[in-house]
Amino acid sequence: MKTITLTVNGNNIQKAVSDRTHLGDFLRDVVQLTGTHLGCEHGVCGACTVLLDGEPVRACITYAVACEGRAITTIEGYESDTVMSRLRAAFNVHHALQCGYCTPGMLATARDIILRLPNADEQRVRIELAGNLCRCTGYMGIVSAILAVLQDLRDQPDAQVQALRLAAVKGGAQRIAASEFAQGFTSFEAKRRVEQNPESSALTSDPAKFQASPSTRQESQQKGTKVHASFEVPFGVEDVWSFMSDLNAVASCLPGAQIESETPEQVAGKISIKFGPMAATFKGNATIDRDPAQRIAVLKGAGQDSVSQSRATGDVRYQLEAVSASSTRVAVDLLYTLQGPLAQFSRSGLVQEFVKRMVADFGKNVTQRLASPQTIAPPQAASINPVGVLFSILWQKIKNLFVAR
Ligand code: FES
Ligand code: FES
Repeated sequence: MKTITLTVNGNNIQKAVSDRTHLGDFLRDVVQLTGTHLGCEHGVCGACTVLLDGEPVRACITYAVACEGRAITTIEGYESDTVMSRLRAAFNVHHALQCGYCTPGMLATARDIILRLPNADEQRVRIELAGNLCRCTGYMGIVSAILAVLQDLRDQPDAQVQALRLAAVKGGAQRIAASEFAQGFTSFEAKRRVEQNPESSALTSDPAKFQASPSTRQESQQKGTKVHASFEVPFGVEDVWSFMSDLNAVASCLPGAQIESETPEQVAGKISIKFGPMAATFKGNATIDRDPAQRIAVLKGAGQDSVSQSRATGDVRYQLEAVSASSTRVAVDLLYTLQGPLAQFSRSGLVQEFVKRMVADFGKNVTQRLASPQTIAPPQAASINPVGVLFSILWQKIKNLFVAR
């Protein structure tokens, strides 16, 4: 145990904590401020967002002992904050909350947007909110509330808000200047990278949480994260191989995928995905190697989303195995990397779950197409409800606990 001294909502606090206690647990269990909510405890959902020296951080991946001498602001600490008063009123007017679980973190991020990005438009607000997940609202109300506050402040500038913006510039310096006026998302990316990468920040993460997934860690050293999934199709292996050798047919079964041009060795196309408020279309090329003898195919692809400038690479290897004369198992291994704003999802269980669901949908579509070859489904974006995925991951962890015992 260590005794730490810090300021929480303006009050000096001295408490003994273990080295491994994260700030979220410290605030809730030690300081008894339960307005900070914990969802994923992986730095993904944003429910635990608080201010550390005025900047939003994930309390669940910040050590309490690393906050020695620092100032924390939780949702209970905005009593006289003029920006938060405006946001609260706007959240009410625009119905920006239902169960309210995401709301403390959502408000902390919203306040940061108001201060950093006075001219943010809807797209920018959505990008900035990408690290805060809400299972109830569909985000429309939240985005509208933030845009309404920004518009009000542009119409009628407020001296107190202006003072907060200036103070934030002086205190947080480059963060504000770069994020609003520099090209691209330089500041946004740099900040997120520090928060997300456990090896690169003194403030982040409990190493135990990362050791809990040794395979992911090992695979990330191979420059990517690996996801394995499989499905079975009630058709003979020759029929399935012949179908899956036709890339246009394969693309028609993959939600959101479209092939634009194809040669025997290379394809160009795009794949659209939707993840909560984020929508991205990765456009790029892939090369293909097929081994008909072993019924293995490998696609190596790279693409970029023109909106968020996120880049993705992925090697998809699929292998067919006859389970019986009329049943085939398709094993799919994906090794991927994500860079840019969407990279915040890459090391979590969210993407793994996302890919597994995509593969399951793909399997169903392949079965359907083999059963009725004339059916060509429209290429809709692969869409997923992030909170549903979070619950599925949590449920899997709970099940693992019981299996381990
Ligand atoms: S609980 Fe901290 S990001 Fe989800
Ligand atoms: S209001 Fe329920 S999770 Fe956002």
